[in-house]
Amino acid sequence: MTAITQSVDLDRRGRVAVLTVNNPPVNALSQHVRQGLHDGLKQALADSSASAIVIVCAGRTFIAGADITEFGKPPVPPGLHAVLDLIESSPKPVVAAIHGTALGGGLEVTLACHYRVGTKDARFGLPEVKLGLLPGAGGTQRLPRVVGVEKGLSMMVSGDPIRADEALKHGLIDEIVEGDLTAAGVAFADKVVTERRPLRKVRDLDDKLAAVRGKPEVFAAFRKSVARQTRGFRAPENIVKAVEAAVSLPFDEGIKRERELFLELLNSPESQAQRYFFFAEREAAKIPDVPADTPVKDVRKAAVIGAGTMGGGIAMNFANVGIPVTVVEVKQEALDRGLSVVRKNYENTASKGRMTMQDVEKRMALLTGTTDFSAVKDADIVIEAVFEEMPVKKEVFAKLDAVARPDAVLATNTSTLDVNEIASATKRPESVIGMHFFSPANVMRLLENVRGAKSSKTTIATAMAVGRRINKVPVLVGVCYGFVGNRMLHQRGIQAEKLILEGALPHQVDKVLYDFGFPMGPFAMSDLAGLDVGWRIRKGRGVRSEVADRICELGRFGQKTGAGYYKYDDKRNPSPDSEVEKIIVDVATEMGITRRHIDDEEILQRLLYPMVNEGAKILEEKIAIRASDIDVIWVYGYGWPVYRGGPMFWADQIGLRPLRDRMLQFQKATGDPFWTPAPLLNRLADAGKGFLDR
Ligand SMILES: NC(=O)c1ccc[n+]([C@@H]2O[C@H](COP(=O)([O-])OP(=O)(O)OC[C@H]3O[C@@H](n4cnc5c(N)ncnc54)[C@H](O)[C@@H]3O)[C@@H](O)[C@H]2O)c1
Repeated sequence: MTAITQSVDLDRRGRVAVLTVNNPPVNALSQHVRQGLHDGLKQALADSSASAIVIVCAGRTFIAGADITEFGKPPVPPGLHAVLDLIESSPKPVVAAIHGTALGGGLEVTLACHYRVGTKDARFGLPEVKLGLLPGAGGTQRLPRVVGVEKGLSMMVSGDPIRADEALKHGLIDEIVEGDLTAAGVAFADKVVTERRPLRKVRDLDDKLAAVRGKPEVFAAFRKSVARQTRGFRAPENIVKAVEAAVSLPFDEGIKRERELFLELLNSPESQAQRYFFFAEREAAKIPDVPADTPVKDVRKAAVIGAGTMGGGIAMNFANVGIPVTVVEVKQEALDRGLSVVRKNYENTASKGRMTMQDVEKRMALLTGTTDFSAVKDADIVIEAVFEEMPVKKEVFAKLDAVARPDAVLATNTSTLDVNEIASATKRPESVIGMHFFSPANVMRLLENVRGAKSSKTTIATAMAVGRRINKVPVLVGVCYGFVGNRMLHQRGIQAEKLILEGALPHQVDKVLYDFGFPMGPFAMSDLAGLDVGWRIRKGRGVRSEVADRICELGRFGQKTGAGYYKYDDKRNPSPDSEVEKIIVDVATEMGITRRHIDDEEILQRLLYPMVNEGAKILEEKIAIRASDIDVIWVYGYGWPVYRGGPMFWADQIGLRPLRDRMLQFQKATGDPFWTPAPLLNRLADAGKGFLDR
């Protein structure tokens, strides 16, 4: 065996040369891997006793993509194109033997090979779209030649990998192999030589492209089918254009077109934001004073207190990953109702074909309902989701303190109450932490973990680890009213209300945010959540929100009653309602407000700049560890479009000085202290800096 570079070895087995890549952890395409493949291949080609070549990987996976540490650095040759050209033009057959995940550049390597075999649990994908890019090493040209235009488009536009059986069905691999992978790859290559099979160069394949040539309707239908989920993103359209080029242009020209479309994306604000966000998400896992080697409690059993809207959803997250979970309620009736909602949720998923009825039963079997509080005694983590009332929470935590294991993590899902006060109801505040899930808790990925003043490092590290285990994106925040997400949302809500009184209408405000990229604006969101919840809370506190209250007084509680800020048809399609407009105009008149035309730019600035300003306060108060954590919260919890990075990234793109100056203009015009820039915003604006480079 010869070491070609630090990560690539060349070996020979009989008449087959074997190139093995060993670049842990995921065999990324680092410079020394590209060099090793290039030089190793040349040696194998020069070796007259080798008749075929196998490319295989050591460790847990085939090449799973680019080396992200090389991102943004000047490229060092050989480039991937040069390596792929050498593979494809090899006069000796080259076979890729694949296990684990062949992703991105890894899959593009296999597409340059003449044959591909894979293990039965291998996965194949081109996920570049998730970074706002397209597969830039021939993937857009080669994949459709192999799997066909429609399958290729759907793989590249979704970015989701496919399984080996599907890959076999679509011709992406030639065989599913068993046993030792290198041996299987060698045996396959041997067979190719013995049977004198042709060198199948993907660049020369045309039958699957010919099938759609002159049929633009295929592309039109595809664009339409993905329009909703790709709205606002730039990469999906460039991928479609690149595949159109694959169909209409000769291979080398198609590659040139792919390059142009790739560079356009690389320099686009959308991809910059998406690549920023990729790192932001990874960064959020790091907590400066809770190092990665902090002992974490192994969670084998969980308990959830309360089987309401949130409790049921939270419990599902545990069952989904195979962790048994006990759900505790006060009354049998509430328990039965809660568990039947969980069952219905699972059955709905099954009816859409996304899980089997057997899975439903398996997950339900992991859920145990009880009204006996002492059932939490063997849980490693308990998450409380009872009514949002401090005395109730304290009573629950005092009881937990009495019965839970001494080393259990005790978490509260409160959205507004003080985690420290809740912790004070126990004799072990170091084990208490907030775990703020978002509704619907079985769907939303965001988890704000709220660190109490006394939460121990192990408690924090465990809450973060459990969050990841149940497929959430946990972000650590500190104690304050509303934590990070809702605290910023509140600022947006204040302006939304003012805007409609001053002259805009709910649908105009909502449209501005929808066009910005949010799934919906504040009024549509209120209608979806139900207007009665806030109304009841305001009545309890003896306060009024004039427009909202008058709408509720008409029995208009939002979508569930067919009317709220909008009226809804029987398919829940909204339309603006003159009755609501009249309420707004009446209230404005009574308040002495002269309504005026407000343009979309002002609406956007007034909704989003206050959020950024609040973000600055949150940073200065150290409620969030870093600006990028705030962005992760807004993308995963509130539908901020990822191609705009998040509110703090977005603010940096605008420039903090113009943003601050615009706030000062609003302040001058209204005399409203609401518009006072946060000290941190002022300092950064004056210094010409951004939140992310402070
Ligand atoms: N609904 C949301 O969108 C949302 C989002 C994030 C956080 N939260 C928080 O989650 C918590 C629960 O909210 P929800 O919307 O699920 O409320 P909910 O009213 O739907 O459910 C609360 C459940 O707790 C049960 N309960 C009350 N006291 C109990 C006790 N002592 N022991 C056991 N069970 C008890 C009730 O019977 C009820 O089923 C609150 O703290 C809330 O602020 C809610």
